[in-house]
Amino acid sequence: MITKPKGTIDFLPEDTIKRQHIEEKLRLISSVFNYKEIRTPTFEKTELFKRSIGEETDIVSKEMYSFSDNEFTLKPEMTAPVIRAYLENNLQNISPVHKLYYISNMFRHERPQAGRFREFSQFGAELIGSNDYSADIELISFGHYFLSAFGIKEIRIKINNIGNISERSLYINDLKQFLESYKNDLSEDSRKRLSRNPLRILDSKDKKDREIISNAPVLYDFLGSRNRLHFQNVLEGLSDLGINYDIDYSLVRGLDYYTSTTFEILSDTLGSQNALLGGGRYDLLSEQIGGKSTPAIGFACGLERMSMVLDAIKYKFPEYNPPMLYFVTSGEPAKKKVLLLISKLRTQGIICETDLLSRSIKAQMKEANRFNAKFVIVIGENELEANEIRIKRMIDGSEVRINFDNLTNYSFE
Ligand code: HAM
Repeated sequence: MITKPKGTIDFLPEDTIKRQHIEEKLRLISSVFNYKEIRTPTFEKTELFKRSIGEETDIVSKEMYSFSDNEFTLKPEMTAPVIRAYLENNLQNISPVHKLYYISNMFRHERPQAGRFREFSQFGAELIGSNDYSADIELISFGHYFLSAFGIKEIRIKINNIGNISERSLYINDLKQFLESYKNDLSEDSRKRLSRNPLRILDSKDKKDREIISNAPVLYDFLGSRNRLHFQNVLEGLSDLGINYDIDYSLVRGLDYYTSTTFEILSDTLGSQNALLGGGRYDLLSEQIGGKSTPAIGFACGLERMSMVLDAIKYKFPEYNPPMLYFVTSGEPAKKKVLLLISKLRTQGIICETDLLSRSIKAQMKEANRFNAKFVIVIGENELEANEIRIKRMIDGSEVRINFDNLTNYSFE
């Protein structure tokens, strides 16, 4: 038997109902924060991701699903596509600030494990057009708020500021010098990155690399007064809103486009893949892909990881049990009559079902129970003759008799 590709997920109907609820609630919360939904293509030009996420990142160097001609790639993330769409459609001419959100599938060729998939979904938000600290506070508080609206409260926010390009290049010089002295102890990947993009060595998961990195110079020490003030303002704003955070000077995030504020929201219920949400400022991304300078900040939350947390906290999904009418039929004429009736009722938005296997009345009743039908209507020769049907209300077994012609006007309650 052919099975699904590794690291992908089948959403069976009951999983889909849960996911739909999550999406609906996210859309509602997004609209309260005045974020508008954006949808972009499933694949983009490979160049878009190379230029924005960065060639030396894990995502671009190892995890992209690119088509054989290498011109196109299934999107591994949405920030670059959103900015591409923003620039291509001249959204900046409509208003100076845009608040956009998305719920979409992403593709990364990672080693699958709990909470890590090759096709996964993100809910993300991008606040484009402002470099003011108030934008950072609003966006981070949005991330914090939507999680708490789902009852996800046991989280840790890690936050840092990784400076601008010139602050970072001073730092990178220092970092490089420091790492050069450990060159022979570094992993092969990190040795390669040493000349190409030493900052990405800080993302290494290798144990020995991590040991070396723990003594490396700290980026924050290279920040000028502007970014320090920005950081202080953001932290103060979060404290004013009662949002707790831990400053983590080692949080550089694994994508090259970040500048200034970076943050992550972690949930310990997730085990080793504990990053539930990640984001930050990316004031240079627009220019990197050929657009005009446009400051922006955003985040993305993995929906599979969010579902895992919801399961762990025993989130109460609303019951999905819409009222259904089940028609039990006996004999060919009844079967044909019911097909007509059902098609009429369905145009009125009434959910109805009948037997499609010409089964016995007993088997049909069993199916009605399995569907949890609210009403069961039995139609056979007698009913057709008398032009009368019995509607049985399953919850209390009560019955009403009505004329066939009145069925489409009957109020099923
Ligand atoms: P990211 O940290 O690569 O950031 O991903 C954000 C979130 O997506 C992670 O925290 C995690 O919940 C989920 N995620 C990532 N990879 C996987 C995977 N293989 N399986 C399951 N879930 C995964 C970004 O993607 C940035 N675009 C976020 C951003 C938006 N920055 C600014 N704006």
